[in-house]
Amino acid sequence: MSKSTGRENKTQVQWSSPSNIALVKYWGKHGQQLPRNASVSFTLSHAKTTTRITMEDMEGVAYPAVDFTFEGRQQPLFAQRTVKFINGLTDVYFPFLKGKKLTIDTQNTFPHSSGIASSASGMSALSLCLCDLEMQCNGTTIYDAAFYRKASLIARLGSGSAARSVFPGMSVWGYHKDISGSSDDCGISVADDVAPVFKNFHDDILIISDKTKSVSSTAGHQLMDNNPFAQVRYEQAEKNLTQLMIALKTGDLEILGKITEDEALTLHALMMCSNPSYILMEPASLEVINKIRKFRQKTGIPVYFTLDAGPNVHVLYPHEYVAEVKKFIREDLSQHCVNNHIVEDQVGDGPQKLV
Ligand code: DP6
Repeated sequence: MSKSTGRENKTQVQWSSPSNIALVKYWGKHGQQLPRNASVSFTLSHAKTTTRITMEDMEGVAYPAVDFTFEGRQQPLFAQRTVKFINGLTDVYFPFLKGKKLTIDTQNTFPHSSGIASSASGMSALSLCLCDLEMQCNGTTIYDAAFYRKASLIARLGSGSAARSVFPGMSVWGYHKDISGSSDDCGISVADDVAPVFKNFHDDILIISDKTKSVSSTAGHQLMDNNPFAQVRYEQAEKNLTQLMIALKTGDLEILGKITEDEALTLHALMMCSNPSYILMEPASLEVINKIRKFRQKTGIPVYFTLDAGPNVHVLYPHEYVAEVKKFIREDLSQHCVNNHIVEDQVGDGPQKLV
């Protein structure tokens, strides 16, 4: 239940929502944040954003008045993005926000400058809070599939990949002919369609650089519009997703690993052949990738890599190899990370309502 904070007109909600890592990537969009291809990811367990909104009446405001703090401090850039997002939703989705003041405080479990993308966790936590406030205003509190679908749709409008973060385990966003219920509008859970090995799969994130990226994901998506390989890429993503869903179901690590690595390298190849071209990988990203492949060949341990739109390398492996892989990371890979920084994570249970 959300909390009444003493004064009658105040309502408070709080949600935590995780980041996610895509295996088949969303890269390229159109219209109002609609994906050019369907993607699949798993939500993480530790890398999360927690957002609290206190809503109260305020006279004479057409759009909600927003007071935003990040980890207790003013953060003008985050604040601007949040205000723009909420204002854009008010007329169509959340008219109840008119005449309200929203005090928003948000924090991440991972350092802001760790190079881990926070838009998926941030936008999903915010969207869950807004959908919850809407329900409170309507006098209902049913956190059913329709609630999460709407939260996913709203999250998508803030950041595409956030659409997948409102579900536990594996989720798909984007219409795909072989995936029943899939839609461009919002994500769906496919957590029940995966073999046990993927329910506690690990993702240790090697922080190769903690600097702000030279080209944002949003700008990267735009560059796909004129990328000569775009159409081929969208067709490839569709085929990869078909195969990956089968591998997830049957527990076929080899196929999953091959597609996942191909997807990561394709994503970065697309950046390199955009106009203008750009490179987000660092030399250390490539060194780590080569070491992972050699380790896999030598030991037969199914450990794979993926990357988001940045230089950090996600090391993916089944729980049963945790001791061997963590030793390998510690001894051979951590030296390539900023201050030996590694964020150890794994498949998580999805968002949580805290207040
Ligand atoms: C490479 O969701 O960050 O991580 O919709 O513009 O906010 P916007 O982009 P964003 O793009 C994520 C791209 C990716 C792949 C993925 O997560 O599927």
